[in-house]
Amino acid sequence: MAGRFPAVRPRRLRATDRLRRIVRETRLAPEQLVLPLFVVPGRGKALDVPSMPGVRQWSVDRVAEEAGRAFDAGVRSVILFGVPEAKDASGSHAWREDGIVQQALRALRTALPELTLITDVCLCEYTDHGHCGVLDGQSVANDPTLALLAKEAVSHARAGADVVAPSDMMDGRVAAIRSALDAAGFAGTPILSYAVKYASGLYGPFRDAAQSTPAFGDRRSYQMDPANVREALRELALDLEEGADMVMVKPALSNLDVLAAVRAACHVPVAAYQVSGEYAMIKAAAANGWIDEARVVDETLIAIRRAGADIILTYFAIDAARRC
Ligand code: PBG
Ligand code: ZN
Repeated sequence: MAGRFPAVRPRRLRATDRLRRIVRETRLAPEQLVLPLFVVPGRGKALDVPSMPGVRQWSVDRVAEEAGRAFDAGVRSVILFGVPEAKDASGSHAWREDGIVQQALRALRTALPELTLITDVCLCEYTDHGHCGVLDGQSVANDPTLALLAKEAVSHARAGADVVAPSDMMDGRVAAIRSALDAAGFAGTPILSYAVKYASGLYGPFRDAAQSTPAFGDRRSYQMDPANVREALRELALDLEEGADMVMVKPALSNLDVLAAVRAACHVPVAAYQVSGEYAMIKAAAANGWIDEARVVDETLIAIRRAGADIILTYFAIDAARRC
């Protein structure tokens, strides 16, 4: 008769906080969190992003303030996004030696030598049309984009990036970036691939912050259809074959099943991105007094861990780390 009430009472292990802590199956450590940072031209800037309360765009001379707060809270990594001085058809500011992300890398390396610096490798912030690759008429041309992404990744590595993270969703970009990094002497620089990136309405606030809204059309010809999970495993397999060292699923909360499938299907570290729209929804509801922000943030982060993420990119990184 084992397993029957009243002998079996699961509530016994929920009776006190001490007991609940002992039997907790999933934990979150500050080292697992990555804080996204937006860097803009100019000096002395810390500009609020209206659709992401609490998130700011930092100029190079001030970005270490926010990164330092993260570091002091125990967060050991940041991912950098740049808003360039100028945009053009090919996004050429993405691979300039004095580009915005390159400058930020050098500033952060000096200010916080122990901080892990990840860079988002994509063209949408740098192209005047806002797409993640170069255009051929109205469509995003896959193969000509690869060399440009590779140049951007090498330029980031040269400026001090510890990890490069391609988010463009072009086919073959991990292989192109890997061979370019190796040829430039950066065989030791890991690639965190946004392997499974869905075309999502949840990136809206980010596009305000990164000024990367496409001028026409949308990203559905390169980002994935949220209806598909087998395709996610195919993208995963391809990126691993091409040499991805770590892989990402994005957005996080709407794709926990995908995250679990990816975790089960590979043996590399898996990251999940709690994206700008996930952040904005929680902030907005909390600002209205409809939910308890800290509680909901912690609940979503532990759910993302439980589904299989080893690493979580989140705009809540500093607050969440302080509560760990
Ligand atoms: C660039 C990129 C985007 C995000 C990360 N890298 C935007 C997009 O694809 O449109 C979204 C992150 C977020 O919403 O927080 N390709
Ligand atoms: Zn992009």
